[in-house]
Amino acid sequence: MSENNNCPRGQLLLRTLAMPADTNANGDIFGGWIMSQLDLAGAILAKEISHGRVVTVSVQEIVFKTPVSVGDVVCCYGECTRIGRTSMSVGLEVWVKPVATDGVGNRRKVCEATFNYVAIDGDGRPRAINKS
Ligand SMILES: CC(C)(COP(=O)(O)OP(=O)(O)OC[C@H]1O[C@@H](n2cnc3c(N)ncnc32)[C@H](O)[C@@H]1OP(=O)(O)O)[C@@H](O)C(=O)NCCC(=O)NCCS
Repeated sequence: MSENNNCPRGQLLLRTLAMPADTNANGDIFGGWIMSQLDLAGAILAKEISHGRVVTVSVQEIVFKTPVSVGDVVCCYGECTRIGRTSMSVGLEVWVKPVATDGVGNRRKVCEATFNYVAIDGDGRPRAINKS
């Protein structure tokens, strides 16, 4: 995705709160939890686009820029960057809004990635996406 550190790219797909149970050994938020939020966010968009079930087939270029802290509001934004016959690519960004005792801090981008999804039928086989 193109570099833009002022404004999230795409639509808000998911918003949640980073909790103590999601921390790693350093006390920051675990990267695997952030990846899970990204996957959920991308799947929401992929399901909307393909009008049905999807699976994640691969992930590209995941970059963690700065740590996320307990209590941060975690927002996943995304946009579809490619639609193939049965697959889609979704460019995703995670932004956090720190909530401090003295007010709401500036939001910042903490992670970006591209997730690839495949539309599937009831038997789990690739299903053609209707692009109309
Ligand atoms: C995703 C899956 C259905 C694809 O089945 P498949 O028989 O390999 O399908 P195909 O080879 O026909 O490829 C289907 C599409 O996936 C794309 N694809 C396959 N491997 C890919 C990869 N590593 N990265 C990106 N796209 C990929 C193909 O290019 C094709 O896209 P297109 O139709 O738009 O041209 C199958 O591999 C699967 O079920 N994987 C497990 C998914 C899963 O459990 N995910 C985790 C939980 S959601």
